[in-house]
Amino acid sequence: MTEDGRPPPTAPATSPIWGGRFEAGPAALMAEINASIDFDRRLYAQDIAASKAHCCMLVTQGILTEADGQAILGGLDAILAEITQGRFTFRRSLEDIHMNVEGRLAELIGEAAGRLHTARSRNDQVATDLRLWVRDAIDDLDGALKGLQGALIDQAERYADAVMPGFTHLQTAQPVTLGHHLLAYVEMLGRDRGRLRDARARLNECPLGAAALAGTAFPIDRRMTAAALGFAAPMANSLDAVSDRDFALEFLAAGAILATHLSRLGEEIVIWSSDPFGFIRLSDSFATGSSIMPQKRNPDAAELVRAKAGRVIGALTGLLVVLKGLPLAYAKDMQEDKEPVFDAADTLSVSVRAMAGMIEGASFDRARMQAAAGRGFATATDLADWLVRTQGMAFRRAHHVVGALVREAERRGCGIEDLPDEVLTAVDPALGDPMRPALSVEASVASRVSEGGTAPANVRAAVAAARQRFLD
Ligand code: ARG
Repeated sequence: MTEDGRPPPTAPATSPIWGGRFEAGPAALMAEINASIDFDRRLYAQDIAASKAHCCMLVTQGILTEADGQAILGGLDAILAEITQGRFTFRRSLEDIHMNVEGRLAELIGEAAGRLHTARSRNDQVATDLRLWVRDAIDDLDGALKGLQGALIDQAERYADAVMPGFTHLQTAQPVTLGHHLLAYVEMLGRDRGRLRDARARLNECPLGAAALAGTAFPIDRRMTAAALGFAAPMANSLDAVSDRDFALEFLAAGAILATHLSRLGEEIVIWSSDPFGFIRLSDSFATGSSIMPQKRNPDAAELVRAKAGRVIGALTGLLVVLKGLPLAYAKDMQEDKEPVFDAADTLSVSVRAMAGMIEGASFDRARMQAAAGRGFATATDLADWLVRTQGMAFRRAHHVVGALVREAERRGCGIEDLPDEVLTAVDPALGDPMRPALSVEASVASRVSEGGTAPANVRAAVAAARQRFLD
């Protein structure tokens, strides 16, 4: 029953676009499962740009008259203005963005609107639109990533010589500098940008002109439309052109790796901002309070970035499963490509930008990091190295010697440097006062000047190199 109590009409109107062979329109449920306009409206700008390129090509090739071409271009511009100004009515009965635009074009310019779809299909149309959209998303994300790298590099410079514990197994391993630690993320993000760049280069071929799947009998010029839309070339095979969604998968795969990187940094921020660590203090603009515990200062944004990796990985997994086993060429299953792509793009964008905001405004507690760096026998390796260097001891033996000192210090609840001289010399006559400088965390990091190592001098050079590699 309808709202006013009358029975629903038995035969709803058929589609004005494809309803020719149908007597009755789709059931309400059919329309509900079929319509994609609620999400694919986001493709409007790409859809109109591709239609304009197609129209110009049809005119140049003599397939459309100048007059019809002008009417179509004018109508498409008017529709673009309506949509951007929020004056456009999206209709579910018209299923998707392509038919909403075409339907409105018919209202605006009449008969000529029906000629725009000559020599194309929604199959090559949607593949083109989504490629254009993902290409824009990649460019936006690249800019955001550059911003995050910039924030990390600035902090790395500020804290080039700030000593902190380096961990393996989340156990204190050796002292490192905070600048070095932050630059590790700059490298990861650089690879993420490289993956997105690679994906963009492979994405940049144009499906338009493949029509439904087999190409077309009209004398179209695919090179012209490809060039007009900024593609490097037309796609070589029409079946592949309408069925390929590798570009979406590659975007999601690169995005999933990126989100995984961000989640690792998010986790470190959570750990570092916990009370026992107290290494980092987020700015007020990126911390939240608790409704019950007045003292709380929670790293919600870092936790959310950590969590959002799940969504992006889910989007990749979901689309892989949708595409798995699909026969060539187009199948409606492929309409399910858009929501994961849109959601992942939104998620990545907010995650990268929130992370940049957090890093930019964060301050680090040098004293706490330094104190923590000295705990847990963090310079035990330095002492073993010192024995090798000054006493010519074999490293394996030096490892044993220092191991014995650690055992003894642990038993006494003190550091190696606090062991009395007689205890030290009993373990090895070379030990004693001369070894003490080797135990300082500053000396430890300053000594690690091997290429890619953590020494402050290295970090300063790496900061300058990173600016050139990633920010120029
Ligand atoms: N909305 C459709 C999609 O996103 C457009 C292509 C429809 N093609 C078709 N043959 N029904 O995939």
